[in-house]
Amino acid sequence: MMRMKMEMVVVVAVVLHFLVVLPACVAFNATLGWQTISKGPPLVIANGGTSGLFPDQTFLANADAVNSTSFPMALLCDLQLTKDNFGICRTGWNLSDSTDLKNIVSNATVMSTYAMRRESRTGYFSVDFTSIELNKTTAIQSNPSRTPVFDENFTPETPESTALNSANGAQYGLFFWLNVEYPTFYQQHPGKNSLASYLTTFLKEYEPEYLSATEIGILKLLKPTALKSETNLVLKFLDAGLVEESTNTTYGEIIKDLPSIATYAQGILVPKEFVYPIITFTNDTSYGYYSAPATTLVQDAHKAGLEVFVYGFANDFFPSSYNYSFDPILEVLSYVGDTFTVDGVLTDFPTTAAEAINCYPRGYKSPSTLRASTIPVQNPIILSHNGASGDFPGNTLPAYVAAINDGADYIDCTVQITKDGVPVCREDVNLIKSTNIDSVSVLYEQYYASYPEFGSGVFTFDLPLKDIRTLKAKMYSPWSEYFVRRDPSNDGKEGVLTLDEFLVFAKKNSGVGVYVNLQNAHYLRTQKNLDMVDAVVASLTKANLTNGSHKVFVASEDSSALAAIQSSIPVVKRVYVVQYDEKSPVSITTSVLTEIKKFADTIALDGRFVDPLDIFGSSFLSSTTSVVRSAQSLNMTVFYYFLSNEFNSRAIDYRSDPILHINSLVGEYNVNGFITDHPATLYNFLYNNYCWQPLGGATDVNLSTQLSPIFPVAPLPGALSLPPSPALSVAESPVSYSAPLQNGTGPLTPSSNFNSATKPRARLISSVALIFCLIFSLY
Ligand SMILES: *[C@@H]1O[C@H](CO)[C@@H](O)[C@H](O)[C@H]1NC(C)=O
Ligand SMILES: *[C@@H]1O[C@H](CO)[C@@H](O)[C@H](O)[C@H]1NC(C)=O
Ligand SMILES: *[C@@H]1O[C@H](CO)[C@@H](O)[C@H](O)[C@H]1NC(C)=O
Ligand SMILES: *[C@@H]1O[C@H](CO)[C@@H](O)[C@H](O)[C@H]1NC(C)=O
Ligand SMILES: *[C@@H]1O[C@H](CO)[C@@H](O)[C@H](O)[C@H]1NC(C)=O
Ligand SMILES: *[C@@H]1O[C@H](CO)[C@@H](O)[C@H](O)[C@H]1NC(C)=O
Ligand SMILES: *[C@@H]1O[C@H](CO)[C@@H](O)[C@H](O)[C@H]1NC(C)=O
Ligand SMILES: *[C@@H]1O[C@H](CO)[C@@H](O)[C@H](O)[C@H]1NC(C)=O
Ligand SMILES: *[C@@H]1O[C@H](CO)[C@@H](O)[C@H](O)[C@H]1NC(C)=O
Ligand SMILES: *[C@@H]1O[C@H](CO)[C@@H](O)[C@H](O)[C@H]1NC(C)=O
Ligand SMILES: *[C@@H]1O[C@H](CO)[C@@H](O)[C@H](O)[C@H]1NC(C)=O
Ligand SMILES: *[C@@H]1O[C@H](CO)[C@@H](O)[C@H](O)[C@H]1NC(C)=O
Repeated sequence: MMRMKMEMVVVVAVVLHFLVVLPACVAFNATLGWQTISKGPPLVIANGGTSGLFPDQTFLANADAVNSTSFPMALLCDLQLTKDNFGICRTGWNLSDSTDLKNIVSNATVMSTYAMRRESRTGYFSVDFTSIELNKTTAIQSNPSRTPVFDENFTPETPESTALNSANGAQYGLFFWLNVEYPTFYQQHPGKNSLASYLTTFLKEYEPEYLSATEIGILKLLKPTALKSETNLVLKFLDAGLVEESTNTTYGEIIKDLPSIATYAQGILVPKEFVYPIITFTNDTSYGYYSAPATTLVQDAHKAGLEVFVYGFANDFFPSSYNYSFDPILEVLSYVGDTFTVDGVLTDFPTTAAEAINCYPRGYKSPSTLRASTIPVQNPIILSHNGASGDFPGNTLPAYVAAINDGADYIDCTVQITKDGVPVCREDVNLIKSTNIDSVSVLYEQYYASYPEFGSGVFTFDLPLKDIRTLKAKMYSPWSEYFVRRDPSNDGKEGVLTLDEFLVFAKKNSGVGVYVNLQNAHYLRTQKNLDMVDAVVASLTKANLTNGSHKVFVASEDSSALAAIQSSIPVVKRVYVVQYDEKSPVSITTSVLTEIKKFADTIALDGRFVDPLDIFGSSFLSSTTSVVRSAQSLNMTVFYYFLSNEFNSRAIDYRSDPILHINSLVGEYNVNGFITDHPATLYNFLYNNYCWQPLGGATDVNLSTQLSPIFPVAPLPGALSLPPSPALSVAESPVSYSAPLQNGTGPLTPSSNFNSATKPRARLISSVALIFCLIFSLY
């Protein structure tokens, strides 16, 4: 942590002033225009700057938002008043949540108790401190699940300092937005009428473009002043069931009468759920939200002449609606469309909202409606990971259908083998991860086993096909350690596919290639007398995919398997998969690559070889690597695995934004292909994103003055490089495929069999322990 702080000094030096850039001429359908009240693009409202990354409402967070977002954008300050009736920008009333107050105030300072929103609350209130005292505090990240690395570097901003910093921005579309979360409280504290007097003066002097408040009373009071300062007044809604203090009516009641709101306000600021109602899963095994169809709130408010701003957007907020496949761009796009468009979105990650609004003027499209009309571009290829496994249980027909519809160039089968030698497609050799085997007790108890290589579970190679046929696929959630679970609603519906079935399906879809990944071939040949190479070659031959006229990749982490494939099907393209093992890190040197090139022209790299994280667990990037360039200088093709939308899958530097991640891997690292759980996100970036590559989209939109919010993400200045590690050893112990085995190497018995129901529980406990280790290692 100490180190990261020192690095920050360097970053800070880079942003000594807000950069105000050229106005954005935004791409959109000129005939239709934007469906906003202003007829302009929706406003990006930065919730305290880039608060998803930096402590909110600090110079750093605001400067970063200005720097990395296209306009129009507003910087939001959440007003709290001090003992001497000055303003300070902090979210939440308890200052110890968002400042280092506890380090500053003397240990004798006791907490106060006040009634706020009709509840008695105890903590550190701004009204108990003077502005001079609070000017000695520094801001901290108030969300404990976000990085504390930038804490204690910056004094909280004030409404005045933020307004001054953005003062010259209005002509470019940079605005100031003041939010008043606790009007009644601050009308009573620090003195009577303190809020009205502060705001009246502030409006006259600083003329902010927007002022939102959670109460009607204060808005009505300010109306005459706001008229003169040309400030748009906005009523902020809290949960529908809560009571609005100045009228003693619930917010749910108030929103029913939009025309009367229009008599004192120009707009409303509502939670996302007011536009897309949310249905919550209540059962404990599966959680997450589905949106029902949108309400007509936006259309109704527009009819009443009210602008609609929506809050609650954050790329790292889970569970969110499964409808967006964990893709924050897709989420924003569902509020910006032909049916309706909101007038602004309030977000902790302003860059992402700006990307959605400015870079995808036509929303997301699927290949059938887009690829045919695009100018051919040299884009990296899109390979699915077990189909569209981010949205459907992996390796099932719906997952493969979705992958093709979502734009995958290749669909894939991760090959496991049954006890009777049949190749099947499964995420992992352990069936527990992706099937319902743990609820089929007769099979579970019969086949539960532990192997030193694979741990405990039920293993494909122990079951004959007839038993595997009885299983149903379920969603695998790679980030479940962090409580991020993928949509379980298609669990239990689909059976397990054999490789033959997969190939038949793939061939029916002309133009789609196949990527067949042999897992554990060496182990199975030497330990289980099962020949995966032979089985896969037989399947490819049966499917007529061996004469070089089809798009076929055969991949494996086993060099001997690839060499065997090379001699039996010389024309097929081979991919060497380099697995990452954090317990024994390896490096991929040029001589390793030269070795690999003898049996494979393509290398699939675990992402941690390409853009690795800092080894101290900070989740930031360590320094840039050169392995992609080295491989390409040997004329090798480089694939990156796995790409997925969940924010946990990438370094914090990428701002929990899949687009910034992809942009860097394509633009900076020049990766040739991606194996992805979410092909739609990648496809739309490559072919439908007007900011990244104008030629990739249609050419009927003039982009000459488009200001792109997409920028290359580089490791922080001073990011550490990984310590040297031994070179990867490519060679395997001698093994011969497609030939009878030596005597004495027949099937081994598992080291232990299922014998007690306590085993799974023990695993559960150890994974909970792991979660706590991970959480606490952040501090
Ligand atoms: C723009 O909108 C018009 C009217 O709805 C439609 O006919 C036209 O196809 C749209 N243009 C593009 C490029 O989407
Ligand atoms: C702001 O943008 C400039 C120019 O693109 C860049 O050099 C600088 O590093 C950026 N600062 C931040 C904090 O992103
Ligand atoms: C408060 O007490 C703690 C523990 O005794 C001490 O470490 C800290 O420095 C004190 N803080 C102040 C501001 O005096
Ligand atoms: C406010 O913060 C203080 C110090 O962290 C804490 O002790 C107190 O419980 C908090 N109050 C509430 C209501 O959360
Ligand atoms: C806070 O203190 C700094 C100097 O330490 C001063 O420049 C700044 O104006 C002060 N801010 C306020 C709001 O008083
Ligand atoms: C608000 O409503 C509550 C319950 O409906 C009532 O007890 C209270 O007196 C009301 N307060 C005001 C100021 O009208
Ligand atoms: C969880 O709840 C949802 C909605 O009520 C239901 O459709 C689903 O079947 C439930 N899942 C399980 C595993 O009970
Ligand atoms: C979200 O997905 C669910 C389930 O597929 C569907 O019923 C619902 O209509 C979708 N919501 C929207 C707004 O598309
Ligand atoms: C493979 O090709 C042969 C001869 O061209 C043909 O008879 C057979 O049906 C084909 N098989 C498949 C699965 O396409
Ligand atoms: C490969 O086989 C297909 C039939 O499966 C055939 O159409 C094609 O011409 C063959 N290509 C070569 C190079 O033999
Ligand atoms: C890579 O390919 C180019 C063009 O085919 C060739 O000129 C060059 O020698 C090759 N380089 C290596 C290292 O194989
Ligand atoms: C092993 O050797 C014995 C005797 O030589 C023979 O009967 C048996 O079939 C062999 N097993 C295998 C798997 O080759």
